[in-house]
Amino acid sequence: MKIVIVGGTGDLSRRMLLPALYFLDADGLLGPDVEVIGLSRQSLDQAGFRDMALAAVRERAGADYDAAVAARFADRIDYIPADLSNAAGAQTLKARIGDAETIFYLSVSPSLFDGICLSLKAAGLTAAPNRIVLEKPIGRDGPSSGAINGAVANAFSEDRTYRIDHYLGKETVQNLIALRFGNALFEPLWTGRSIDHVQITVAETEGVGDRWPYYNDYGALRDMLQNHMLQLLCLVAMEPPASLDPDSVRNEKVKILRSLRPIGAGEIGQLSVRGQYRAGVAAGKATGSYVEECGQPTDTETYVALCAHIDNWRWAGVPFLMRTGKRMAEKRTQIVIQFKPVPHSIFPGAGGADVLANKLVIDLQPDEDISLLLMNKTPGLDRDGFRLSPLPLSLSLATAFGGGRRRIAYERLLMDVIHNNSTLFVRRDEVEASWAWIDGVRAAWAEAGVTCRPYDAGGWGPVAAYNMIAQLGRSWNE
Ligand code: BG6
Repeated sequence: MKIVIVGGTGDLSRRMLLPALYFLDADGLLGPDVEVIGLSRQSLDQAGFRDMALAAVRERAGADYDAAVAARFADRIDYIPADLSNAAGAQTLKARIGDAETIFYLSVSPSLFDGICLSLKAAGLTAAPNRIVLEKPIGRDGPSSGAINGAVANAFSEDRTYRIDHYLGKETVQNLIALRFGNALFEPLWTGRSIDHVQITVAETEGVGDRWPYYNDYGALRDMLQNHMLQLLCLVAMEPPASLDPDSVRNEKVKILRSLRPIGAGEIGQLSVRGQYRAGVAAGKATGSYVEECGQPTDTETYVALCAHIDNWRWAGVPFLMRTGKRMAEKRTQIVIQFKPVPHSIFPGAGGADVLANKLVIDLQPDEDISLLLMNKTPGLDRDGFRLSPLPLSLSLATAFGGGRRRIAYERLLMDVIHNNSTLFVRRDEVEASWAWIDGVRAAWAEAGVTCRPYDAGGWGPVAAYNMIAQLGRSWNE
């Protein structure tokens, strides 16, 4: 089998794909016949690309770098200098790989997907079992994503098209599926009868930096919410699938995306906040503003908070509060399931303690942990009755399974492509449904004239996001 990384010398290939393949090799998960072929327009030879790949692997692997594995991995590596957006480039590739089963990983700008698919097809490289892997962003709105998906579909059938959302390759994200469907405990409670609201936070400390030419055209809504955060929302909210089979899972996810209530211009002001970081202090260092990074005035949001509703029986009346931002106070990816309070408290103010509502906190990054906040009796004697305090029941995943190396999300995803398993990949109808909802949010922003509120780099986002959630009668979990 051949794995052709189109854009093989690029950033993603060096930081993620080559190291992930190396680790699969280290774990004995790459069959002896698997060849890794870097392809790009850069004029390099095989030795040059191997050196580049091994340097990238060494940097990423750090203490986990094993010279013997690296030597074996190097033997799998080849390089083809070619431009796949023209027929001649695809013919060069065809001459090298022939009829071997091939995975094409497009780690290039989506504007090139169309041309690449056309030339792969013309060179006779798109028939089964060959498959294609696409990186985000798949378009910047519904129509552009439809055009890209249409061009790809002319060359590869949907079951051989793997759209990556690297969040789905993260261990804890998969653990959400295990938590929900491997335990009978939660299911009866997993509805608006017991759950007050859900919060999804993806906070990053990094700024946009030199990615601004891409980012400025997208903003936080398209860059993070349309894909990663809506995928997390789907995994929290979907009905139990009949099996882990790709279509069973994705059928349930798409139902959620199609049930997202559209947000109109009249309510967008109460249900969303756009923000942009200004200069501040992040991680103890003075940092510039987003506008300074861009070098031009811009109203692109680097922060977004949004309140979504899912119009179905299970989730009627339950707000899904999402927020994501760059240059925030800390890196934190977290899902909070906030349960309703007890219907009647028999501990009225005992010892000054309130009965807090239970919450299930799922930390994805930087630490992986799942904890359930429960009320307990504070030990000791108290004349006025019980004193209560909240204590977390924690799964401490790192302790349970050992500190071990944190896997790169792409390891799982690449392994699944090799084994033809698309459960953790995004189906075309999911992409379309999520864009349809996101396009609606953007249209409402435009109609209502919602502009960005400034927030200090190194903080927790605009004050307006706190006002928004307060007006909804809730508060951010901090
Ligand atoms: C990418 C976004 O998809 O995800 C980036 O384009 C973002 O802007 C990144 O920083 C976050 O990924 P992770 O795995 O670090 O949470």
